[in-house]
Amino acid sequence: MIRLDKFLCDSGAGSRSTVRAILKAGRVMVDGAVEKDGGRKVDPDRGRVTLDGEVLGGRRRTVVMMNKAAGYVTATEDPAQPTVMDLLPPHMKHLQLKPVGRLDKQTEGLLLLTNDGDLLHRIISPKNQVPKVYYARHEGAAGEADIQAFARGLTLGDGTVCRPAVLEPLGEGESRITVWEGKYHQVRRMMAARGMTVTYLERTREGSLELEGLERGAVRELTQEQIRTLEQEAAGGGPAATVNLLEESAAEGLEAPWNLE
Ligand code: URA
Repeated sequence: MIRLDKFLCDSGAGSRSTVRAILKAGRVMVDGAVEKDGGRKVDPDRGRVTLDGEVLGGRRRTVVMMNKAAGYVTATEDPAQPTVMDLLPPHMKHLQLKPVGRLDKQTEGLLLLTNDGDLLHRIISPKNQVPKVYYARHEGAAGEADIQAFARGLTLGDGTVCRPAVLEPLGEGESRITVWEGKYHQVRRMMAARGMTVTYLERTREGSLELEGLERGAVRELTQEQIRTLEQEAAGGGPAATVNLLEESAAEGLEAPWNLE
């Protein structure tokens, strides 16, 4: 249980002084009755708090896109290290968001978080073939043989077989990599399997979602339309995004990866 005024601040209703004024004006209702006492205790997960008739916080389904910064582990808590939850703004802290899949501690870029457990599991399911695009800087040069090896599907050092993927060299020691799955340390291990060491890694795209100017360390809520598209893609639909991605690919002569299996 937390104080109503704190809950309102955390939900983005405004600063403490704004929240005091909002309460005084009778614009806040708790479980259907006007509440002016900011000291009243509410349960963020159960109480229905509205501001001007709009439900705040609590059980509202939320999906957010984060531009993860290096140095944060993808976990909801960790005894010793900062987690991606530390990057959430205060008004999102009580939404019970969980990371969708994971990025390594040093990997930056696009990470989704949601409080919809069902959607989360549909997105991370191995059946989900939403493409994930990474920008990598690496030691060692990527060449034609590497492109073909990625396209055929690599076998990692421990025998793990990867689905066909797209490797696009962008210049000296720089590549774009597209994978249709999310194995542990996948991109770093795929590059290592071809003798290249990744020194920097950023996820730039997941399905049709891109960072689009979202600053490093910042978070943005997905719109209802983006959530609908994400759901379609998680269900194996939304092929337009996938196909376009391949058409954009600079790797010539590659078939769609699912045709190579
Ligand atoms: N592949 C990796 O190796 N690391 C990540 O964080 C994501 C994909």
